[in-house]
Amino acid sequence: MLKRTIYVSEAQANLAGKEVIVNGWVHRIREHGEGLTFINVRDRSGVVQVIVNDKSPSQVRQTAKGLKNEYCIGVRGIVRKRDDSLINKDMITGEVEIEASEIEVFSTCDTLPFAISDDKTQAKEDLRLKYRYLDLRSGKMKDNLILRTRFVTAIRKHLDSKGFLEIETPTLIRSTPEGARDFLVPSRLYEGKFYSLPQSPQLYKQLLMVSGLDRYYQVARCYRDEDARGDRQLEFTQLDLEMSFADREDVLSLMEGLFKDVFKEVVNYDLPDKFVRIPYADAMNSYGCDKPDLRFDCRISDFSEELKASSFEKAKAVVCNGGFAKAIRLPLLDKSKPYSRKQLEEYLEEAKIYKNKTGFFLKAEKEGNGLALSGSAAKFFDAGQQAAIISKFALEEGDALLVVADEKWKAACAQAGSMRSRMGAQLGLTQGKGFAFCWIVDFPLFSYNEELGHWEAEHHMFSRPKKEHMEYLDTDPGKVLGDLYDLVLNGYEVASGSVRINEIELQEKIFEICNYSKERAQKAFGFLLEAFRYGAPPHAGIAPGIDRMCMIIQNETSIKEVIAFPKNTFAVSPMDESPSEVSEEQLRELHLIIDAKERK
Ligand code: AMO
Repeated sequence: MLKRTIYVSEAQANLAGKEVIVNGWVHRIREHGEGLTFINVRDRSGVVQVIVNDKSPSQVRQTAKGLKNEYCIGVRGIVRKRDDSLINKDMITGEVEIEASEIEVFSTCDTLPFAISDDKTQAKEDLRLKYRYLDLRSGKMKDNLILRTRFVTAIRKHLDSKGFLEIETPTLIRSTPEGARDFLVPSRLYEGKFYSLPQSPQLYKQLLMVSGLDRYYQVARCYRDEDARGDRQLEFTQLDLEMSFADREDVLSLMEGLFKDVFKEVVNYDLPDKFVRIPYADAMNSYGCDKPDLRFDCRISDFSEELKASSFEKAKAVVCNGGFAKAIRLPLLDKSKPYSRKQLEEYLEEAKIYKNKTGFFLKAEKEGNGLALSGSAAKFFDAGQQAAIISKFALEEGDALLVVADEKWKAACAQAGSMRSRMGAQLGLTQGKGFAFCWIVDFPLFSYNEELGHWEAEHHMFSRPKKEHMEYLDTDPGKVLGDLYDLVLNGYEVASGSVRINEIELQEKIFEICNYSKERAQKAFGFLLEAFRYGAPPHAGIAPGIDRMCMIIQNETSIKEVIAFPKNTFAVSPMDESPSEVSEEQLRELHLIIDAKERK
């Protein structure tokens, strides 16, 4: 076998005159007549041009004639520097070509279901996933996976330097409630019993702290039976991390140092030493969500007082009855293209997705020497009020103000936030802006589940309430803020974590608030409570999503683009057709009977 001596990208002018062997795939072939053939050979590092001409040995000329795209070949040849006029600046190996002296065909290739692209395969997603091994030959997909490898390697290097131990935890575990639905694995040995695939290694990492291992991390596979979305998969990877004798500051600064280091190494990007920290309530008020895209500013402001002073009875009633009004300025960036009514209404439509019923816009128009507001709601604000609004929101001619009102604070924030996101995308405010990290801190520990009629943990039940809010645990759980933190990057939540509880009494109290009676908590989490009896250290941790971060770094909008073999939107792998039926015998061994109706 002709064995590689260089990756194709190493074919550079410094090797001119040297004999090399490359292994790879036929990327393109161009016949130029008179026995001149150019064969672009691709391996994972790039593409190089191999040349066969009438001076080439007859074996080479003969073999070259039979080559087709995606044949897998080995080529021996001499690196030749190209004439200046023939240098191809678009190719990293464009200064040279390899004059073939021997070609070996390792394997041929059938007609391809789609062409292998330098960038990304132009085929429907299911076809790409069915032939994923071919899809991954494309330039962009290969780059995505290489980036991912470098990202994880850089993380490992950094954490190793900080004294973290990489410890694996089991993936066949007890089913414990953790937010999403579990994937279950039936036990053959114990009829009627099931293992569960971990939604995250949360409890195990806490137990490792009880073991005294002090600083743990793991590149951990997690499984959640939930609907797939652009930034979600059923199985995904977390950098799971926990540290003992640590508080929030320790975790946050560890992460800041880690990502500063990793982003520099992997994408040569300089992050600040510290990431902005925004309390949850401020994030909701100013950006309309708890994962603000800080690549652009455009903050949301309160509009309650303005509405209260207006004569817009319908909207006014919302705030006068304890509701909330939010406004966001939509700047006119291109003065030659004033916003049409239709365009502004499209923004309000966005808010309707979040159930907005009371939304309107105001537009700043020239009037005399100054500005006045226009739009169907403008008449509800007198001249003085209009001037005050124009000044408060620093409206310039052509700018619009988008206003929403809702009885519920969260809903009003989300409605305004959705318009802010649309603004960012439509006005191109995020383009070329790099990476904007921020921390969201001080989340509420609980949220009330109206349907079930009890409190639930916002993050998970192992997070510690803030010291100054302990007193509300009994009286008003809704008021309790937790020692919780999320890391946000370019509008995506990329990590979540918290300072943990390490005392049985407090842990039991949180279970109780979340409707876990002593017995139920004992049954589900008895092993954790028991561990807390044996000198559990104070500890804190976090888990960044590896897939999500790689997706953002690679400027992709779907997490599938950075996962080698993902499931499609319907939780299916079109390649191996999983999930699949299993044999009667397998079912029998697992003591399972499939309901005949289900099967149909
Ligand atoms: P959480 O559930 O918030 O926290 O998850 C942490 C991070 O994991 C990523 N992530 C996902 N990525 C892809 N597909 C999914 N379905 C998916 N779900 C989550 C996100 C998210 O920010 N045990 C806690 C962490 C802790 O407290 O230490 C946990 O799992 O990037």
